Amino acid sequence: MIKKALGLGALISLPGSIIPNELLADSSEIFPAGSAIGNPLRFPPVLTGNTMTASVTNQTVWPGQTSQLVTINNSYPGPTVIIERGSTLNINFVNNLSEDSIIHWHGIIAPEVMDGHPMYAIHPGQTYNYSFPIVQRAGTYWYHPHADMLTASQAFKGLAGFFIVTDQSENALNLPSGNFDIPLCIQDRRSVNIPQFTYNPNSTDMMVGFLGDVPLINGTPDAYFQVSRTLYRFRLLNGSNARIYKIAFSDNRAFHIIGTDGGLKDAPVSATSFYISPGERVEILFDFSPYTIGQSVTLKSLPFTGSGGPTYQQGTEMNLLRFDITSNTSSGGVVPASLTPITYYNPSDVVRTRSFTLSHASGGMNMHLINGLTFSMNRIDFEVPQNGLEQWKIVNATNEFHPMHSHGILFQVLSRNGSTTLAPNDKGWKDTVLVNPYEQVIVLIKFTQYKGIYMWHCHNLEHEDDGMMLNFKVVDPIGINEENSGVPKDFRLHQNYPNPFNPSTKIKYSVPQTNGGVNVELVVLDETGREIETLVNKVHTSGNYEIQWNAANRSSGIYYCKLITGNYTETIKMILVK
Ligand code: C2O
Ligand code: CU
Ligand code: CU
Repeated sequence: MIKKALGLGALISLPGSIIPNELLADSSEIFPAGSAIGNPLRFPPVLTGNTMTASVTNQTVWPGQTSQLVTINNSYPGPTVIIERGSTLNINFVNNLSEDSIIHWHGIIAPEVMDGHPMYAIHPGQTYNYSFPIVQRAGTYWYHPHADMLTASQAFKGLAGFFIVTDQSENALNLPSGNFDIPLCIQDRRSVNIPQFTYNPNSTDMMVGFLGDVPLINGTPDAYFQVSRTLYRFRLLNGSNARIYKIAFSDNRAFHIIGTDGGLKDAPVSATSFYISPGERVEILFDFSPYTIGQSVTLKSLPFTGSGGPTYQQGTEMNLLRFDITSNTSSGGVVPASLTPITYYNPSDVVRTRSFTLSHASGGMNMHLINGLTFSMNRIDFEVPQNGLEQWKIVNATNEFHPMHSHGILFQVLSRNGSTTLAPNDKGWKDTVLVNPYEQVIVLIKFTQYKGIYMWHCHNLEHEDDGMMLNFKVVDPIGINEENSGVPKDFRLHQNYPNPFNPSTKIKYSVPQTNGGVNVELVVLDETGREIETLVNKVHTSGNYEIQWNAANRSSGIYYCKLITGNYTETIKMILVK
């Protein structure tokens, strides 16, 4: 259970001087008593009241220096929203910036008008009222701005915060809580611009993403955190524009991964490292009891091979946060044998398959494409009927990393390059999935809650602002939205005629009214259920159709004809007698 405040729950002033990252402990080691080098880890305050005001304010990030940032309620990172499942979020967002803005609740299932879609961006001086129920499971979510082509710069300059959903089933698990439940927002900024968060991407930055060389944890450079010899829960959020981290501890000690984007996993899984890409969250339990007082251990990003430009690269090794072990207080938390149950989607329930190819054109604007498209505010790129399980295949045809994110939903990863053996941080409820260079990732996704327009985009914020984003519309389930008389009410596959037959037979089928047509597939299966022929596979408007199947080259026996459309299938049995 999250107590009144997460962690220390308040902003802490930053004494001391800038300590180069290299001076941070590199493995567990004794540090000189009383001379904690670096800056104590900051914690954003918990949001109180119903107003979130975006404005440019002066903050202290590096001790003794003033950073002019874009903040919510004068806080960087933004105040943490904590809300219990079942209650209603009521927020008035006030835009006191000199440009458009809107807040998106990342990972939160919200009605279209509450989701922070860029079409709802408000002008300077305006207020947007959010009010909607929190319907989903407990988890570590977050918020950030989403105005068209302004997401990256506003988020980079400081506008982002945690959004924590709590619920009773999570509270019952006896996980470390209160001062032992620690949110860690990881971001990177550029040392060359200290103390400002200057956002000035050049063409390499637009291609790779705007990478920095200075990690900030909850807005703290050279951060340290004093811990007890006990079990902690860490909620990691990658709030960076583009940088991917390979998280591990400096002594390679194992920890338990307990949560993904959409809350707790079904069971803890032991690991020594994991990747976290922009937008993703991973929760872990780490036990400091094997250490002795006076030791320290550092949360790191391990080196890996990545793309980059001459100055900044993906995969750079970084020290993120040093833990100094200073006391013996127990959190009382445990590593439960099981967490909260997850029903995994069954791929055989998939009724519709979509494929998204990520590519880039060279040079200029709108380089990053999804299925050859760049974002257009008023174009709906695809419609998703509610309640049908869909398979989305993401094909990365580029040498860049693309963390793909869907609004309005939590999905499940099925496979990576065909392998269903997933890393523990891939398995569970997700809203963002990292698609590595030239990789193919398949996710299973089903919209059941709200109809409306949502977004599917790359969460590398430079790619997003460059247009690597599509609109989709969640619509009525197929087959029940037609009311006009004179058109078929439902999908129907009629019995073939003649039957038995030799060598050809007529198959009739009906297609009801849908928004903009629907793909209908008619396939022939043999007696064992193997698909042997596709008779029809195209988008249909409403009407009655007829097709002839000529089985002259088939042998006598039982065949089936199957109509597949949306979440509806129907099968008839056909008998060929020669
Ligand atoms: Cu955090 Cu549209 O994204
Ligand atoms: Cu989002
Ligand atoms: Cu991308």
